[in-house]
Amino acid sequence: MSIIASNFKTNHTRKSTASFVNEINEFLKSNDILSEVYVFPTSTALDSFDTVPNLTLGVQNAYATQKGSFTGEIGTEQLDEFAIKTILIGHSERRHVLGESQSEIAKKFAFYKELGYKIIYCIGEPLEVKQSGLEKTLEYVYEQFEGIDTNYENLILAYEPVWAIGTGVTATNDDITSVHSAIKARIAKPLLYGGSVKVGNVAEICALDGVDGALIGTASWNVEDFKQIIENTKDL
Ligand code: PGA
Repeated sequence: MSIIASNFKTNHTRKSTASFVNEINEFLKSNDILSEVYVFPTSTALDSFDTVPNLTLGVQNAYATQKGSFTGEIGTEQLDEFAIKTILIGHSERRHVLGESQSEIAKKFAFYKELGYKIIYCIGEPLEVKQSGLEKTLEYVYEQFEGIDTNYENLILAYEPVWAIGTGVTATNDDITSVHSAIKARIAKPLLYGGSVKVGNVAEICALDGVDGALIGTASWNVEDFKQIIENTKDL
């Protein structure tokens, strides 16, 4: 059963998110699709959506707090309002654009783990590391597990090479399977691939050994494309 997740990043409004979620919900229901589907809208578009059990709304980021003085952040008080119990942690844009350190990420992970959240934990190497070979890539990726409880029961991993995110350059099947098999040998958790996954390549990628689904940005923002992505992977 594929796990298919859409990361909206800084896209969609409250209104367009609601129509997207409702459309995906109807699509899953009317086609009896049982794939595990996640949507991560912007924080401003979180809401209490009435969805089938296999469609889950999550948050792209939150601070390791219930509430308090953390300007620009949200905590569990805001998530509880909409019964959000799923969070993305360690996304490359938070690491490399927003400057979140591994120790901050580990602290966030521990906080949300303690509360039983489903965590989609992202790892992945930048281009210069990839260019220095598989061994260096794995070393880099393993460092991103520092301070992370990889035995946590509610954990899904997402391998997203930074150079493939939002660039249109997807990792090759060989790149994906070599990293996935190495991670899988150490950590027995569902492992998604992310990085320029599209309608046209999602089925092939999700069918690879060691790939349990996909975390998708750009290609998932159009609701018809996201439906097609779900359709293309529903039997995998
Ligand atoms: P992309 O983003 O599909 O636009 O490459 C993937 C991600 O960042 O999760």
